[in-house]
Amino acid sequence: MTLLLLLLLSLSADIEVLRTHDLVVVVSLSADIEVLRTHDLVVVVSLSANIEVLRTHDLVVVVSLSANIEVLLLHTHDLVVVPLSADIISTVEFNYSGELLATGDKGGRVVIFQREQESKNRPHSRGEYNVYSTFQSHEPEFDYLKSLEIEEKINKIRWLPQQNAAHSLLSTNDKTIKLWKISQRDKRAEGYNLKDEDGRLRDPFRITSLRVPVLLPMDRMVEASPRRIFANAHTYHINSISVNSDHETYLSADDLRVNLWHLEITDRSFNIVDIKPANMEELTEVITAAECHPHQCNVFVYSSSKGTIRLCDMRAAALCDRQSKFFEEPEDPSSRSFFSEIISSISDVKFSHSGRYMMTRDYLSVKVWDLNMENRPVETYQVHEYLRSKLCSLYENDCIFDKFECCWNGADSAIMTGSYNNFFRMFDRNTRRDITLEASRENSKPRAILKARKVSTGGKRKKDEISVDSLDFNKKILHTAWHPKENVIAVAATNNLYIFQDKIN
Ligand SMILES: *[C@@H]1O[C@H](CO)[C@@H](O)[C@H](O)[C@H]1NC(C)=O
Repeated sequence: MTLLLLLLLSLSADIEVLRTHDLVVVVSLSADIEVLRTHDLVVVVSLSANIEVLRTHDLVVVVSLSANIEVLLLHTHDLVVVPLSADIISTVEFNYSGELLATGDKGGRVVIFQREQESKNRPHSRGEYNVYSTFQSHEPEFDYLKSLEIEEKINKIRWLPQQNAAHSLLSTNDKTIKLWKISQRDKRAEGYNLKDEDGRLRDPFRITSLRVPVLLPMDRMVEASPRRIFANAHTYHINSISVNSDHETYLSADDLRVNLWHLEITDRSFNIVDIKPANMEELTEVITAAECHPHQCNVFVYSSSKGTIRLCDMRAAALCDRQSKFFEEPEDPSSRSFFSEIISSISDVKFSHSGRYMMTRDYLSVKVWDLNMENRPVETYQVHEYLRSKLCSLYENDCIFDKFECCWNGADSAIMTGSYNNFFRMFDRNTRRDITLEASRENSKPRAILKARKVSTGGKRKKDEISVDSLDFNKKILHTAWHPKENVIAVAATNNLYIFQDKIN
């Protein structure tokens, strides 16, 4: 598969980078920002937001203005603007036909893209995605009982199958799940009898004739409205939501529990898994992800921080604390180290579209499991094995706890997952071939073919290879999505969304 860049969208559209001599000035176009210059230091002061970016030759300083000044980042040699953290994309999801793509970000916003129709006079316009709707899904909140701030960050988005002209999706932050309805209007009614064009009621005694209202075309208007709010069911942080194949129920999972909801009922949910020990000091394991089976509405799986996966059958018991199947690969004693348990933690689990397999992502690999074989995966793919020698520094900078997601292509024949340095990996299950690609502004011009990247591990470095030591661990691709039918992929790299598509001819 040859990939082309289709769209590159930065959510921080109001920030511009100017360059003078060796200085980089970061300017926001939202008018409330001032640029000061002292010697070779450029200071960008925002009058409203509380994050500032200062920059000298090879020094980036991010300063918070809220009372005390804090330096967050130093000595970066590249010219990347430090994105405002609210713009960092935290989830990406295609709808069931792939025509719509939703992203969620740390600032609680949801942006929906729609694929434009093919047009005869613009043959190259095939497949372009444009912004369809943007709305604020979650706001920051405060839990007064626990004195805890509840972030607005969108952890997951799941589409519901379309049932009428409107679209629906579920979005969740750490605590609250919301059902949104997204509807569009491109016609308006005119010529009412009881009110005039401004909407004011007319005096009934002065209405002497009846007229038939008509529908007139108008500019497309897309509205998002919250339909249901599913709150107060999770004590811990929600990591997963998954719509069931019955299209009437869905599950939500936090660190210790899985709940089952009916889409129409917001005031109660059923707790179907609870792994909270009576004494929290005995806690050794947390739930990291959960998903419903794509065809059997009684079956779901959840993964754990110990690298195991449990498959449960809701017909067996109301509380599925005892799994029906338990998937675990015996550990290789020769590779045991201090980090073994941390890197075996599963960050994502996804059923194949066929429902026969599931895929899990841990820190260094992706594994494909046959649901009929519990003792080991049928396929294991190394994502970035060269990091095994770097685990110590990855532990120190907390990267070892990054939660990479993974996804299947529509035919279940290929899988994709992210890595560092804005690299992402694709594995062909039939040919066993794999490829490393990079989502970067510099290397991806629109419609240019993406080149395979290679990381050199020790020894001599060949031309075009990048050494393990120069990988940037701040640039990570945690979230990716694959169009359910075509070779179109969406890759979230910090605050940038890249959409690549297979070259057609
Ligand atoms: C996905 O979105 C497209 C575009 O609006 C729509 O036509 C399609 O029905 C949606 N698919 C499903 C299965 O919901």
